[in-house]
Amino acid sequence: MNLVVIGAQWGDEGKGKIVDYLAREADIVVRYSGGANAGHTVVTDDTTYKLHLVPSGIIYPDKIVVLGIGMVIDPEALFNELNMLEKMDVRWKGRVLISDRAHITLPQYKKIDMEMDAKRKRPIGTTGRGIGVTYAMKAQRDGVRVVDVLDRSLLKELNHEDSSFISGYIDRISEMTIDTSSYLFKNMQKNILFEGAQGVLLDPDLGTYPYVSSGYSSAAGASQGSGIGPKSIDRIIGVCKAYSTRVGNGPFPTEFKKERDGQLEEKIREKGREYGVTTGRPRRCGYLDMVALRYACRTNCIDSLALTHLDVYDEMDELKACVAYEYQGKKVEEFPASLEVLNKATPVLITFKGWKTAIGSCRSFDELPRKARKYIEFIEEFTGTPVDIISVGYERKQTILRREMWIKY
Ligand code: IMP
Ligand code: MG
Repeated sequence: MNLVVIGAQWGDEGKGKIVDYLAREADIVVRYSGGANAGHTVVTDDTTYKLHLVPSGIIYPDKIVVLGIGMVIDPEALFNELNMLEKMDVRWKGRVLISDRAHITLPQYKKIDMEMDAKRKRPIGTTGRGIGVTYAMKAQRDGVRVVDVLDRSLLKELNHEDSSFISGYIDRISEMTIDTSSYLFKNMQKNILFEGAQGVLLDPDLGTYPYVSSGYSSAAGASQGSGIGPKSIDRIIGVCKAYSTRVGNGPFPTEFKKERDGQLEEKIREKGREYGVTTGRPRRCGYLDMVALRYACRTNCIDSLALTHLDVYDEMDELKACVAYEYQGKKVEEFPASLEVLNKATPVLITFKGWKTAIGSCRSFDELPRKARKYIEFIEEFTGTPVDIISVGYERKQTILRREMWIKY
């Protein structure tokens, strides 16, 4: 049995927590896309872990984690993270497998990434981790794969700086590298969890291009980026917040506006701790965009939604969510490709009554206040997708599971 967990918005939906929660029953956790641009937070009873490259399953002592084909790996960032985990008493040796087909981020790529963004007429607000440059090199067939440096065939073609950088890691990487596609195929009868990075609206094909990342953040990416066929995916879980956030630039139709919403952005940012895990940037915040969420459900065949950060709305008298956009006097009901429409459209908002109760200790759907249940039921109806997981706080136990995820229905 396998599960794919993706972000259904612009990233930072709480995938780290949901993956950690579901990984309890997994044998293998696979990252299939992105690199050190991601920031996944996992909170256990007494410790907070902030992960970038290593799949969130690493926190459990017995799981195997895989850095798949579709990833771009900066060896320096990887070993810094593994050393950090070691210091936090997470023993990782023998449990981290790297795909021989994954691409490597060279030191100069990070510099080029920042320089390119600074020169753009429309800067994207990249995390500066060299991700876009690594994927661009891959697409133009000038990339460096893990296998190419391990057998040293490509080393002599690199400049001195790059080749000495890589040489320092070859022995350590070599011990961890295998053909991960074949490994996953042989272990298909086990429980495998595919951990997405970023979110559907940051996917280069499905997202708000060019204000997107460069790796695939779709469910389809799980297949392509780990070398398993699309038919072998059993269940797709889309994680979304009760509101929306985005880091970096780009259209955000439901973003809170001072004139309309007063201090709401500051309030939500503080309560929801909305600061980037990778760059520390304050996240832009806005209403839940159900048009975008329905689009994410449709384009990814999401079976179940995991709704997170619902408790952030605990103190609100009322909350709003977007059910359509208005552009030049016309109603827009599908998530548009046009930046012009996305930038100028105003959200059509509907209002829900707030529940004004702390929900952090609720452990079942029925324990949630009726007004919170109403909000959830509206999301389900609007997107045509059941909300099977609800997160009411950072801790593992603050999770409501409405339907078992590791069962084929
Ligand atoms: P890049 O992936 O570093 O090139 O960044 C491209 C865009 O995606 C920027 O707007 C980033 O802020 C955004 N981005 C990249 N990774 C994440 C993530 O993990 N969470 C949220 N936004 C991200
Ligand atoms: Mg994040």
